[in-house]
Amino acid sequence: MALQNPFFPVKDDTMHVERIALTSIAEEFGTPTYVYSAGHIRNQYKQLNDAIQGIMPEGRSAMICYACKANSNLAILKLLQQEGCGLEVVSEGELIRGLKAGIDPQKIVSTGVGKTNQEIRAQIEADIYNINVESLPELERISAIADDMNKTARVIFRLNPEVSGGGHHKISTGRRGDKFGLMKDDVFKAYDMAKGMKNVQALGLMIHIGSQVSQVNAFDAAFSKLPAIVGELRAAGHTVSRLDIGGGFPVKYTQDDQLLDLSAYANWVRDIIVPLDVDIALEPGRYLVANSGVLLTRVTDVKEAQGQNFLIFDAAMNDLLRPAMYDAYHEIAPVQNHNAPETVYDVVGPVCETGDTFTRDRTLPRMKRDDLAVIQTAGAYGMCMSSNYNTRPRAAEILVDGDQYAVINARESYDDLFARESVPAWL
Ligand code: LLP
Repeated sequence: MALQNPFFPVKDDTMHVERIALTSIAEEFGTPTYVYSAGHIRNQYKQLNDAIQGIMPEGRSAMICYACKANSNLAILKLLQQEGCGLEVVSEGELIRGLKAGIDPQKIVSTGVGKTNQEIRAQIEADIYNINVESLPELERISAIADDMNKTARVIFRLNPEVSGGGHHKISTGRRGDKFGLMKDDVFKAYDMAKGMKNVQALGLMIHIGSQVSQVNAFDAAFSKLPAIVGELRAAGHTVSRLDIGGGFPVKYTQDDQLLDLSAYANWVRDIIVPLDVDIALEPGRYLVANSGVLLTRVTDVKEAQGQNFLIFDAAMNDLLRPAMYDAYHEIAPVQNHNAPETVYDVVGPVCETGDTFTRDRTLPRMKRDDLAVIQTAGAYGMCMSSNYNTRPRAAEILVDGDQYAVINARESYDDLFARESVPAWL
């Protein structure tokens, strides 16, 4: 069953993105193409921001730092920048994108277990809000680089809360044994080390437990340890004035998926986090963009074999990796003919491996060659995880905003694909 989304209305039996028919996008730009709704992204940002700002006490700030690994297209970063959103970056590339989009460095935080010296240097140079430190050796490198630059590095320490966040095991990050963050004892060590570092300012803590966390009490399990830890740190004379509460806010992949109740979440922040007397940062990725986007694709063929119906799309696992990588479920819907009789399909792409299967045994309205379809909830971890596997040029990206639309990333050409390759003279 298609996901219902007011920013993707069906008019005259044709799915639109806001006011633009997906049929006309396909005609003008071809397929496969990612198509995003600007209105949906603004709406998501506003709902979360309003809920959080509504419970913050005077004198303390809450800042939403979009985890742009979910979708780092410059136009989307610009759109969010205009809403007042900050950024969470995990690489130098993402930092460069954020600065290009005009995001204030004082609204940028950086995470990542393997920040290179060059990345740390770039973050200190840009004077970002804080670096989220993931290990003691990393702290030592940050200190050495800050000394070398004679600049201050503001840091917070990522605490491994030893709980499992929702979603697939490959995207849970807060368990003992996961590569992320510092165990509690090392947080104390890190604070002590930072005290002796001339150019490092230790300001607080961060926790991110994983993705698709749909119950407030899953956050509870991780954050219930904080009051004691913060109390102990302060008693030892350390500053804890910032808390980054990570991302992981869930979105609907199916109509029945549970969303986090935003007002319950805001009340939880008010009851559990606000008493800690800290400035707060949040790092939603998927929540802001996932349902803003669909992957628009055309049916190349319908193949009947061994009693199965294969619906073969022109989109493939190189365009949207999530089903192949995490067995992720994405709704699929036709762009037109929504009331056609239903058929059970295996929906596949053209790439040469069986893993290039979007779904098996899915009941969908009957489709035929050249029909258009969408794979929904593709705005997050879609295009940014795409590749050129099978020498397939990467898809185009289109942003729709009311009745305006524009290409925000042109489809790759074959020349683009070969541009950086060369054949050595001896061959
Ligand atoms: N902050 C940190 C430190 C993170 O590691 C992540 C996601 C986020 C924020 C944002 O999480 P979100 O709000 O989007 O759940 N490729 C996977 C998701 C990987 C998430 C990695 N970290 C997928 O397609 O589901």
